[in-house]
Amino acid sequence: MKGAIKTIFWKDDAVVMIDQKALPHEERLLRFTDYKDVIAAIKDLTIRGAPAIGVAAAMGIALGTLHLASSSKEEFNRAFYEICDQFSRTRPTARNLFWGIERMKKTFAEAMPGSPDQIKRALVEEAVLICEEDIAVNEKIGINGKSLIHDGDHILTHCNAGALATAGCGTALGVVRAAWEEGKKIHVFVDETRPVLQGARLTAWELMKEKIPATLIADNMAGFLMKQGKINKIIVGADRIAANGDVANKIGTYSLAVLAKEHNIPFYVAAPLSTIDMSVLNGDEIPIEERNAEEITTIRGIRVAPEGMHVYNPAFDVTPSCYITAIITEAGVIFPPYQEGIGRIVRHHKK
Ligand code: MRU
Repeated sequence: MKGAIKTIFWKDDAVVMIDQKALPHEERLLRFTDYKDVIAAIKDLTIRGAPAIGVAAAMGIALGTLHLASSSKEEFNRAFYEICDQFSRTRPTARNLFWGIERMKKTFAEAMPGSPDQIKRALVEEAVLICEEDIAVNEKIGINGKSLIHDGDHILTHCNAGALATAGCGTALGVVRAAWEEGKKIHVFVDETRPVLQGARLTAWELMKEKIPATLIADNMAGFLMKQGKINKIIVGADRIAANGDVANKIGTYSLAVLAKEHNIPFYVAAPLSTIDMSVLNGDEIPIEERNAEEITTIRGIRVAPEGMHVYNPAFDVTPSCYITAIITEAGVIFPPYQEGIGRIVRHHKK
């Protein structure tokens, strides 16, 4: 279903990814053989989107371990956990990052009785498996979500929760793609998503590539379009979902959800179970990443604010679950009350 976009993959003992900073101007693949470059790529948004970050971290850990000298078992052990720690310090909000790291630690522990070579191979296999699973999970999210989309829908999305944010066809855009491929006549409004413009640069690029009808708007236009009746559905991704259904996602999501309630517009979140963090009881406990001031004071390298201006730049916000109509996962669609629904689905399906 995914079309031609392959965001991240493992090839010949290297991590290969699309350079998302170069899009939409240039379609360029980067090949990394040093795990430190994968860390830098996660930090500087060369690869971004919670599920894609999880896959990148898993592959980065496999890559780093692959090049470890196997002096002693203790040293090998220490170096592995040090690599994991470095990845865990990249982006604090994306739950999939920590989920991917935990999977790699579990694989390491299970492979521990083996030789360093066996451990290294086990880690590579696990990272590739995490990538393949994400592709399958995205397909299922699309299948589960497409019945919520109808002919004539005008759907607003925010940020990029598409193929570029995952290893597969995307979460929110996976649902859009599935509905489109089924022949539903839909139209997507794309929030540009200040300050980093994931909507304008990435979502617009993906939708155009697949010829799905779409219109780009500036973030501050969404409320007016809702009032005009131009938007009748909203679907976004998630970076972390708390046990009570509160959702952290790209900054601006909360405002959309509040506006949606005011205008009686269904507000859907599409995300894999790996985005759910049962250790976090509600959204207040989700760590919110703050990024550098230049993302706000400059636009693509050109300064737009006076020198010395104080800046606050939270990259995500939290939408309380009371604003969310349903959460679409690979294991089914969860409706309120979320505490119960999430608990049930996680208990039955999560690894
Ligand atoms: O800062 P980013 O670009 O990594 O933020 C991405 C988002 O907020 C996405 O909506 C989220 O990760 C879901 S992606 C399937």
